[in-house]
Amino acid sequence: MAAVNAVTDLTREGDIAVLTINSPPVNALSADVRNGLRGGVEQAAADAAVKAIVVICAGRTFIAGADISEFGRPSKGATLPELQAALEGGPKPIIAAIHGTALGGGFEMALMCHYRVAVPSAKFGFPEIKLGLIPGAGGTQRLPRLSGVENALEAVLSGNPFDAKQALAWGVVDALVDEGKLREGALAFARKVIDTHMPLRKIRDLNDKIDAARGHPEIFDKVRRDYARKYRGFEAWQSAMSAVKAAVDLPFDDGMKLERQAFLDLIPTAQSRAQRYVFFAERKVWKIADIADDTETLPIKKVGIIGAGTMGGGISMNFLNAGIPVTIVETAQEALDRGLKIIRRNYDNTAKKGRMTQADVETRMALLGPGLKLEALADCDLIIEAVFENMDIKKDVFQKLDKIAKPGAILATNTSYLNIDEIASVTARPDYVLGMHFFSPANVMRLLEVVRGEKTAKPVIATVMHLARKIGKIGVLVGVCHGFVGNRMLHQRQREAQKLILEGAMPWEVDRVIYDFGLPMGPFAMSDLAGLDIGWSKETSKSSTIREILCEMDRRGQKTGAGFYDYDENRNVKPSPVVEKMILEFAAKKGINRRRITDDEILERCIYPMINEGAKILEEGKAQRASDIDIVWINGYGWPVYRGGPMFYADLIGTDKVLARMKEFEGTMGADFKPAPLLEKVVAEKRTLHDL
Ligand code: 3HC
Ligand code: NAI
Repeated sequence: MAAVNAVTDLTREGDIAVLTINSPPVNALSADVRNGLRGGVEQAAADAAVKAIVVICAGRTFIAGADISEFGRPSKGATLPELQAALEGGPKPIIAAIHGTALGGGFEMALMCHYRVAVPSAKFGFPEIKLGLIPGAGGTQRLPRLSGVENALEAVLSGNPFDAKQALAWGVVDALVDEGKLREGALAFARKVIDTHMPLRKIRDLNDKIDAARGHPEIFDKVRRDYARKYRGFEAWQSAMSAVKAAVDLPFDDGMKLERQAFLDLIPTAQSRAQRYVFFAERKVWKIADIADDTETLPIKKVGIIGAGTMGGGISMNFLNAGIPVTIVETAQEALDRGLKIIRRNYDNTAKKGRMTQADVETRMALLGPGLKLEALADCDLIIEAVFENMDIKKDVFQKLDKIAKPGAILATNTSYLNIDEIASVTARPDYVLGMHFFSPANVMRLLEVVRGEKTAKPVIATVMHLARKIGKIGVLVGVCHGFVGNRMLHQRQREAQKLILEGAMPWEVDRVIYDFGLPMGPFAMSDLAGLDIGWSKETSKSSTIREILCEMDRRGQKTGAGFYDYDENRNVKPSPVVEKMILEFAAKKGINRRRITDDEILERCIYPMINEGAKILEEGKAQRASDIDIVWINGYGWPVYRGGPMFYADLIGTDKVLARMKEFEGTMGADFKPAPLLEKVVAEKRTLHDL
């Protein structure tokens, strides 16, 4: 065995050279890996005894892409075009041996080889689009030559991987070999290449699938229509389409140049920077400063849920999907039946759409046990309370539960705002109490705020974070405060939105600005969806806010066909002249002189106070890091990933700008805009919220 460099080894098996890449964790195509690959292939090519070269990776995966952390920095190693010259342009057949995930630049590197073999569990794909990029080493030019243009467009635009069976069908791989026997299989294939004098097959020379698509612009029109909604606001997908189109319209080398330039142009964009930042931020959330990664977790074999309402039902589905049995408890048979019916209906709908079999539905439902008494939860390892948002009721539930739950069982609450330490204080096990704040619909939304109480034990937190991952959530550790991270910041935006419609804007104007910024909907559309009457009662309503008046008018949101907006029977939405008139009258009665409010002011008023609140959250230690706050907003509220989250956005536009505007607003509008000391500090010290 001869080391080519620190991460590549070259060995010889008879007349076959085996180049092994060993760069954990995912063999990313770093400068070292690129150098090792080029150097190794060149060495093998120069060795007269070598007739074919196998490239294989050690560890859990084939090359999982370019090294994302190198982007935007000066390149030290062999460039991707140089790598292509060494591999595809080399004199001896090269066979890529693939296991794990051949993604992005890794997949492209495999396509530069003359042949590919893979184990059946291998996956292939171009996730670049998820990073605001496009493949930059020939992916958009080579894949369509194998898979055809439509399939390649799908792979490049969706960013989703495809499996080895699909790869074989498209000719992306030339042979599948037995699982666990990749090296042997690749050597056998290389033997065949040598013995039967198989040619140096270059994908760049295969043109029939490309020719078939020429003169069919409708292929691209269709894809543009299909993806327009998904990629509203995103930039890279247009470049991705142009690059694939270039494969059809231009000679190979010209297509390569166009792709490379588009890729290089995308790297410094704010969108790609934001999306790459989010890639790493999503992985950082799991790291907890004072809890070691290897902290022992408690086994969670059975989960109890209290309350089968909106949240309890959705929360249950997460565990059923993961194969964990759930017992769900309600106070009355009727409520229980209603809750179970909704769970079943949700699963049936998924099955109808073909995303689950009827057998899958039954397996899940069979894991669900209903109950009307808390005693039914005695053998659960984790119990999540999702009853009404009322401190007295929650305390009562926890007091009883503490006596029923087995020792060592974790007691969690799904409260949105209530003080978890106060809830924990009524139990004899405050160290086993914490918040698990799911977001609605709880079976769909990826975010889980894991709320750490004053006394919550470390293994309990480690267990719940681990469990979050297992049920497909992204768990973000937060501290106890009103509304935790997400709702606490949301409150700032909602307050300003309400003020803005009194001062001069209309609800649909505020919503349009927020929607155009990239969120799925604005504050008023969101209120209509959630229902305006949460926490409202007819008896105590005093026409003192626009919301109260709307409820009094029985405009309680989408469910009543009217709220801030009018809705027709198909839920089509229209601005409401009735609401407009009511707002004008209400403002006049309050003596407010309405003025024209610019879109810029709407955006700044809605977003800067959120950023400011985020700074306070950091200051108080209620979130571990700025990037955790961003992950909350992206996964809980649909903040556009291409803007990286509110804290990333603040650093991008400049915290000095945010601070200056906050001070201006404070001067004219008062304490709602008082800057957080941390924001002042960051600006004074010329730092960013992310390098604190
Ligand atoms: N560059 C740098 N670091 C990477 C990386 C990459 N491409 N891919 C993964 N990592 C790091 C992660 O940050 C993580 O680091 P940490 O342990 O310090 O947190 C570690 O590798 C392990 O990653 P995961 O936790 O994600 O491990 P999984 O086993 O869950 O997933 C994976 C493995 C499916 C490979 C997943 O990491 C992944 O999807 N990686 C990104 C793949 C990608 O986007 N490739 C395209 C890059 S762009 C490109 O190739 C441009 C080219 O066209 C020129
Ligand atoms: P919901 O009103 O839909 O459901 C609550 C259920 O709890 C009802 O079915 C009720 O019968 C049952 N219940 C009440 N007391 C009970 C008791 N002692 N034992 C057993 N069951 C009892 O309310 P929802 O929306 O599901 O909210 C539940 C909790 O989740 C609240 O704390 C809320 O703040 C929180 N939450 C709500 C979100 C939402 O969007 N709806 C989002 C995140 C958290």
